[in-house]
Amino acid sequence: MARLASQSKLGYYPTPSEVITHLRRSLRFEAGTRILDPCCGSGEALEQLTTGLPVNTYGIELEQNRVLDASKRLHSALWGDALRDVPVAYNQFDLIYLNPPYDFENGGDEKSQRLEFRFLRRFKSFLARKGLMIMAFPLSALKSEALVDQIARFKDLEIFAFPGELYEVFKQLVIVGRKDSCTKAAYEEQARYLEKIAGMPAAEVPAVVGTTERLASKEYKVALVRAEQQPFRFESYRLDPDTVDTAKSGVLTKALAFLEPPTMQKFRPLSSLRQGHLGMVVVSGQCNGLLITDTDEHRGRMLVQGYVRSSSKTVEEKEDDGTTISRTTRSYKAGLRVLYVDQAKIVTIAQGEDEQEETCHAA
Ligand SMILES: C[S@@+](CC[C@H](N)C(=O)[O-])C[C@H]1O[C@@H](n2cnc3c(N)ncnc32)[C@H](O)[C@@H]1O
Repeated sequence: MARLASQSKLGYYPTPSEVITHLRRSLRFEAGTRILDPCCGSGEALEQLTTGLPVNTYGIELEQNRVLDASKRLHSALWGDALRDVPVAYNQFDLIYLNPPYDFENGGDEKSQRLEFRFLRRFKSFLARKGLMIMAFPLSALKSEALVDQIARFKDLEIFAFPGELYEVFKQLVIVGRKDSCTKAAYEEQARYLEKIAGMPAAEVPAVVGTTERLASKEYKVALVRAEQQPFRFESYRLDPDTVDTAKSGVLTKALAFLEPPTMQKFRPLSSLRQGHLGMVVVSGQCNGLLITDTDEHRGRMLVQGYVRSSSKTVEEKEDDGTTISRTTRSYKAGLRVLYVDQAKIVTIAQGEDEQEETCHAA
């Protein structure tokens, strides 16, 4: 397919149902396992792979209409760019099924990497140790040394080709491997094998590696291997403007949750906060409403409120040709107001200004 046509569909090449049938026959799922398809399209592949099984399915998809369909088929489907909008959930999935767009990033300039490599490298970290990675990609992608290097790192790697006519268009391969330590010798042997396949005439590859029909007779265990004790967060930074209604949808609550660590129990800043950091936290309003008791200087209870005020200044300048140009400069000033509750006094500390004090009067 022409490059432009492929890009217009964002690389939508659904896995053929026959290939999913072969995969499904080979997989033995433990109940409760978590499965992710980072480029899930309309969710059909993952649905077919798991229908009727007691497992949890997750998908990410960039194209909005497809993600709507996927959300009806999977337990959770996120709208977003899987390479950027979804924060890494380390070691959280027991199986990843990856069929990424077949293309180069950034329009394919000299330095750009293959997207298959970018997706594999990123989503390997989502996979738990001993978790299973299954990936479909075109044979031509194996010309990328970076991709060969990533694939060769999986333990017990196996490679299959799409069967019969399904192989004809994109010459897709399917790899199955476990995320586990792989000896140097095994890595080198796997890398050599991948390079050998990459250098073969495409038509000979299915006979050498076998097709997914052979895969169907295998057995791969998909066990609960993920890090259970870690909090699980599966969210996208991308918000759908049509569905954002902060009052009802809870989107604001979700967005704010990104700003906080999932648990404070084990949270320790990398280094202690300096005064400047604390100042930013306070003026940005993170401490609004906090009632502090000043024991050091005995000023009693203090209620703090941070603020940022914007102001603008317009200057008119005459040009040589007689025209007048107005330039408007907008500036922002951060500040802090402290209400000394016991003294009925408000102190305002504004950036670049002296402290100002006012006395409160009862209403
Ligand atoms: C090859 S299809 C795979 C669909 C499905 N997983 C399957 O196997 O049938 C790739 C999908 O990835 C989506 N996609 C492309 N770039 C993406 C990105 N950066 N983040 C998430 N999805 C993306 C495309 O819209 C397309 O639906």
